[in-house]
Amino acid sequence: GTVVLAYSGGLDTSCILVWLKEQGYDVVAYLANIGQSEDFEAAQKKAESLGAKKVFIEDLRAEFVEEFIWPSVQANAIYEDRYLLGTSIARPCIARRQVQIAKQEGAQYVSHGATGKGNDQIRFELTCYALYPEVKIISPWRIPEFYTRFKGRKDLMQYAEKHGIPVPVTPKAPWSMDANLMHISYESGILENPKNHAPSDLYLMTKNPDDSPNHPDVLEIEFNRGVPVRVTHLKDGRSEDTPLDIFSFLNEIGGKHGVGRIDIVENRFIGMKSRGIYETPGGTILYHAHLDIEAFTMDREVRRIKQGLGIKFSELIYNGFWYSPECEFLSVFKGQVYILGRESPKSLYNEELVSMDVQGDYDPCDASGFIRVNAVRYHCRLQGDLKK
Ligand code: ARG
Ligand code: SIN
Repeated sequence: GTVVLAYSGGLDTSCILVWLKEQGYDVVAYLANIGQSEDFEAAQKKAESLGAKKVFIEDLRAEFVEEFIWPSVQANAIYEDRYLLGTSIARPCIARRQVQIAKQEGAQYVSHGATGKGNDQIRFELTCYALYPEVKIISPWRIPEFYTRFKGRKDLMQYAEKHGIPVPVTPKAPWSMDANLMHISYESGILENPKNHAPSDLYLMTKNPDDSPNHPDVLEIEFNRGVPVRVTHLKDGRSEDTPLDIFSFLNEIGGKHGVGRIDIVENRFIGMKSRGIYETPGGTILYHAHLDIEAFTMDREVRRIKQGLGIKFSELIYNGFWYSPECEFLSVFKGQVYILGRESPKSLYNEELVSMDVQGDYDPCDASGFIRVNAVRYHCRLQGDLKK
């Protein structure tokens, strides 16, 4: 059969590509451009050289801003009071296109490189089940033959060398990153100890506030129906009015001033706590700007109801239910403190359980059933729709 693999160009998904071929699949590699800095041409060549039958490089930046970031701004979406959901909204955007490609190519299978411990597997798979109910999902990090063979990065490197997969020349940062237009997230590796401070050279989107300008940039943001339609720099007059340009401009200005860094411990849907560091410059500006204009223009009681729904909406997005009946239903409605690390004798944080490097008291195979059970409702709904 044919499998469409969400390919990143990195070591993991390159090994997965070759491994899938070894298992007898035809592999279509799909790389979404959602604003991460990446040499897409080089990634395309790499996937081809690894034996991908076809390679799709898809520029999803505009739709990511308009269809995923904008609704989050409208909802003031935020998870556990702090996380602006930059990865959570990227996954349904990526998986939606993946499913379109799978249907177009007549592929029965899709695959991804998310681990068996995280949220991303759930977001990918629930999106796939919602939009392509018959699809079969290959999740190598939950397949015992795969994860017992590749116990760590060393095994991946060895496999890569053996199979002519170009291995990264620059040493890998001692943490894992997920980057898109909205944010960069950092977790695992040396960050797994929640007490450890992030090194100051970790951040790639925002300047260290110590080195940022002493004078503010003053921006005027115009909203229409909860969505920014123009941003103007009051001093130099620069003005942007398309969604992608507006958001990129806000990233640039926010980044220059070190806006939007957070260091948190959050609750994954799977049930464990994890430590994450995020920088969301443009998204943080918009979050505050939108809250303000909303307070200015919305009736008190309407605002209270919307606030409660916003919390629910954010939880749904975080947990992977972007494409779900309840999310659809909700969509109808319309100076800083920096935390560096933490420690507590009453901590519920379990470093082994969350670790990307050791298994801990956790069986990744359990996640398969967890995700499928959560998708049961989708299939029922589909049947109902068909009867109509
Ligand atoms: N913890 C965040 C979330 O669940 C970020 C996940 C980062 N993903 C990654 N593949 N590094 O949304
Ligand atoms: C992963 O486990 O693949 C990344 C982290 C997450 O999905 O929560």
